[in-house]
This record gives sequence, C-alpha cells and structure tokens, in this order.
Amino acid sequence: MESKPNIIQEFKQFVNTYTEDMVRWVPHYLDALAAVVQYLPEDFQPKRILDFGCGNGNTTEVILRQFPDAEYVLLDASPDMLAVCKQRFPTRNITYQEAFFQNAKFDEGVFDFVTASFALHHLKRAEKQAVFAKIYQWLSPNGIFSCSDLMVDRGNKSIHEPFLKEWQNHAKIQGTTAEEWTWIMEHYRTYDFPDDRNEQLEWLKQVGFQQVATPWNIGFWSNILGIRN
Ligand SMILES: C[S@@+](CC[C@H](N)C(=O)[O-])C[C@H]1O[C@@H](n2cnc3c(N)ncnc32)[C@H](O)[C@@H]1O
Repeated sequence: MESKPNIIQEFKQFVNTYTEDMVRWVPHYLDALAAVVQYLPEDFQPKRILDFGCGNGNTTEVILRQFPDAEYVLLDASPDMLAVCKQRFPTRNITYQEAFFQNAKFDEGVFDFVTASFALHHLKRAEKQAVFAKIYQWLSPNGIFSCSDLMVDRGNKSIHEPFLKEWQNHAKIQGTTAEEWTWIMEHYRTYDFPDDRNEQLEWLKQVGFQQVATPWNIGFWSNILGIRN
C-alpha cells in the first residue's frame, strides 16, 4: 500500500510551529540540514535545484544561502507548507509544485542538485527505490543528490528499540513533554518508514549513481550523497 493518504492533514496541524518542534523533537536537526550543502565539492555550482518535500523551507533556506543565484523548484503535497515557503522567499527565483512524490514528473537531466531531506522517510521501501530512480533521471551529468534524514531499519528490533530510547532521552532533554512524545510516536508509527542507511546507499547504486557516500551522521541521523557522473 502507498504511504500518501492523510499526510496533508498531518502536516496541517503543525505548520505554524514546525521549525521549533523539529528542533526540539529531532536530534541534530539543524546540523543535518547544514550537512546537505556542507560536503559538496568546492567547485560545485548548480544552476537548477529541486527541493523534494520542501516543507516550510528550512532545507531550502540552507541551500539558498549557498547557491543564491540558482533557479529552484520546491515540491510538496502540503499546500499549507508551500504557502509558508511562498511567504518566506517572496523575491526568489522559485517555482512551486503541489504534488505527491509518487506522482512527480520532470524531464530528464533538468536539475543539477536535488535534496529530499526529512521527506523520504515518509515513503515505504519500494516507493523510495522508485523515487531514487526518478531523481537519478532528473539529474544532469555531474548532478548531485544530497539527503539528510533518519536512516534506520524500523524492522530490526535489537537496533530499533535502543534507538527509540536514545531518541526519547534526547527529546526529553530538549523539553519535549510526555504528551508530545506520545504524539511523536503515534506520528512515527503511522507516517514514518525509515530504512537502513546502507540499504539506501545500495539502492542509489542500483538506480545508477556512480558514487555514493555518507559524509555526515550522528547515529542513525545521516546525510547521504549520490553523484551522477
Ligand atoms: C518532515 S517534513 C520535511 C520538510 C523539510 N524538507 C525539512 O527538512 O524540514 C516532510 C514534508 O514532506 C511532505 N510529504 C510527505 N510525504 C509526501 C508525499 N508522499 N508527497 C509529497 N510530499 C510529501 C510533507 O507534506 C512535509 O512537508
């Protein structure tokens, strides 16, 4: 079954508090966003950039600081999140697309840089693999995919249970209440389908990426890169 029903409603509820919630709830969130551009080759100058699952534009802002003159496409299924981006970046060279990842279509080779940070964990395994294949096609030669997200095998109890305990501790120290943690876990069970990082690197290779790497990670919070030659 696909993972898209209700995601729009789910993100509607916390659109106004999204950034402060993510900073308190997601360990290393801001470092993970910085990692999206931190480990790119020094001479990399993308002209067209896709932020797939842009949300309220937190990753976009990091990329915009690095590549202010590029053209951007911001795609998300949530009209509420896209509305925040439109207000946040009024003078920028940005095209917006309200669409589900599963239905997204672009011509081949149109982007030099693609990110999909904290977005692809909403997709199940087969959907992620299909999206990786599409992203590879959308990239130009020498194009780069850089993605920060939670990358852990939810099905592996002996790894996953200690991970959840560590995450809960972190969230508590950041001021997350017991009630909020219950909500986070409900959301996690229903809408989040993280997969193991090494498996995802393998999938990137399978769809054609000639070079893949994990330039940054703290535990299962990771940034991965795929480079198309
Ligand atoms: C956790 S937010 C991440 C936002 C941003 N990239 C960041 O780094 O903070 C996930 C975003 O993905 C979008 N999303 C989730 N599943 C989607 C799908 N199947 N198709 C399109 N957008 C989706 C949600 O609407 C939400 O805005």
